[in-house]
Amino acid sequence: MALDIKPADGNLGVLLVGLGAVSTTLIAGVQAIRQGFAKPIGSLTQMGTVRLGKRTEQRSPLIKEFVPLASLDDLIFGGWDIYEDDCYLSAVQAGVLEKDLLEQVRPALERVRPWPAVFDKRYVKRLDGPNVKKGKSKRELADQVSDDIRRFRDEHRLSRLVMMWCGSTEAFMTESAAHESLASFERALERNDPAIPSSMVYAYAALREGIPFGNAAPNLTTDVPSLTTLASESGAPIAGKDLKTGQTLMKTIIAPGLKARLLGVQGWYSTNILGNRDGEVLDDPESFKTKEESKKSVLDYILQPHLYPDLYTDLCHVVRINYYPPRGDNKEGWDNIDLVGWLGYPMQLKINFLCRDSILAAPIVLDVVLFLDLAKRVGWSGIQEWLSFYFKSPLHAPGLYPEHDLFIQLMKLKNTLRYLQGEELITHLGREYYD
Ligand SMILES: NC(=O)c1ccc[n+]([C@@H]2O[C@H](COP(=O)([O-])OP(=O)(O)OC[C@H]3O[C@@H](n4cnc5c(N)ncnc54)[C@H](O)[C@@H]3O)[C@@H](O)[C@H]2O)c1
Repeated sequence: MALDIKPADGNLGVLLVGLGAVSTTLIAGVQAIRQGFAKPIGSLTQMGTVRLGKRTEQRSPLIKEFVPLASLDDLIFGGWDIYEDDCYLSAVQAGVLEKDLLEQVRPALERVRPWPAVFDKRYVKRLDGPNVKKGKSKRELADQVSDDIRRFRDEHRLSRLVMMWCGSTEAFMTESAAHESLASFERALERNDPAIPSSMVYAYAALREGIPFGNAAPNLTTDVPSLTTLASESGAPIAGKDLKTGQTLMKTIIAPGLKARLLGVQGWYSTNILGNRDGEVLDDPESFKTKEESKKSVLDYILQPHLYPDLYTDLCHVVRINYYPPRGDNKEGWDNIDLVGWLGYPMQLKINFLCRDSILAAPIVLDVVLFLDLAKRVGWSGIQEWLSFYFKSPLHAPGLYPEHDLFIQLMKLKNTLRYLQGEELITHLGREYYD
């Protein structure tokens, strides 16, 4: 039986924290698609299909026609940044999209002007900007974020909202006493505890109003008990962390394949050069550590050395990111994989991925926003594990290991959509075709 899903009527407000390369590439892209001169390549919600029933039935509707998603025409963007540039100027500065394309969508970009940010340099050492809120406590700053949201909602008569952190990667931090319960978190907000970075202030403001929250970056943000509990209690779905785009996307495509064929891996060396603002922020060791942790856990979970000790014990996994300004947003990633085959014979695989960071990230921010809004209308709250497909460090229930294999993640996502609409789940057993 299909679940009861509220319709996607009215406008959906998309609250972006951080209006840098990813956010402006998203906004410009959505506008270009609306104007009919570009295609939403890379977006599962816009171009993906879902097979229903038996293979002989030939039913494979588009996902956006199978489940009720907000239309791109109904998205209204707003957001915060520490710089005052509107989204057109920010997009020019980011240098991802060509001037020609930007000129065609310029009015839509210029309309999005950043509201003053909650920002504390302590968490992002390489940046400093003038467009910053002032307040006596982090609690007061959260209230100011709520005021921005309320004004935005009223001005555009929004029927629903989703917030997504597309801000810079914050300094590495581990869970502490301040994050344990909602009461300890709120006390920490009052006393300006350094255990509460800016991203948590935004997340708190959204979650207490039941607004879904996604995290494109690797910082903890909602990945602490106080905020996952708040999300569950207030009816807000959450998803994160760290978009799975360039090198890690390739890793989660290749590693399950090697494991499927029982090929051993002795070493996996990954290095990147990138020259955008994200690269500059990651040049600071504390921000890099947050990213490194997120990138490194992937292989262990996929290869499961405890189940395959002869193949993956003592795997040497090294990840490097180097800030190299001439490359801008066009990241280059190299991977060297030292493989082991039959009778222990060594082999090597080299991958050289010349990718575009924000071109890969924008469509998946769009998907996460639309699916979080769907989850909200279904009545789901808390961690949305079915959205793991999009993340390097998927949020997961305590005591459960995260699923990193891209193909299992996709199956989980599509089965969730089938479940929503009361369609049979696909197990790929396939006996029925031969009985
Ligand atoms: N592009 C990708 O492929 C990709 C993949 C995974 C994760 N990410 C993450 O997504 C995030 C955004 O990436 P980007 O390339 O757009 O970076 P960017 O540096 O171009 O944009 C980030 C923006 O956030 C702003 N900002 C920082 N702290 C803020 C705060 N407290 N409040 C409001 N604004 C704040 C910055 O001023 C900047 O304009 C980064 O954390 C990055 O690590 C990107």
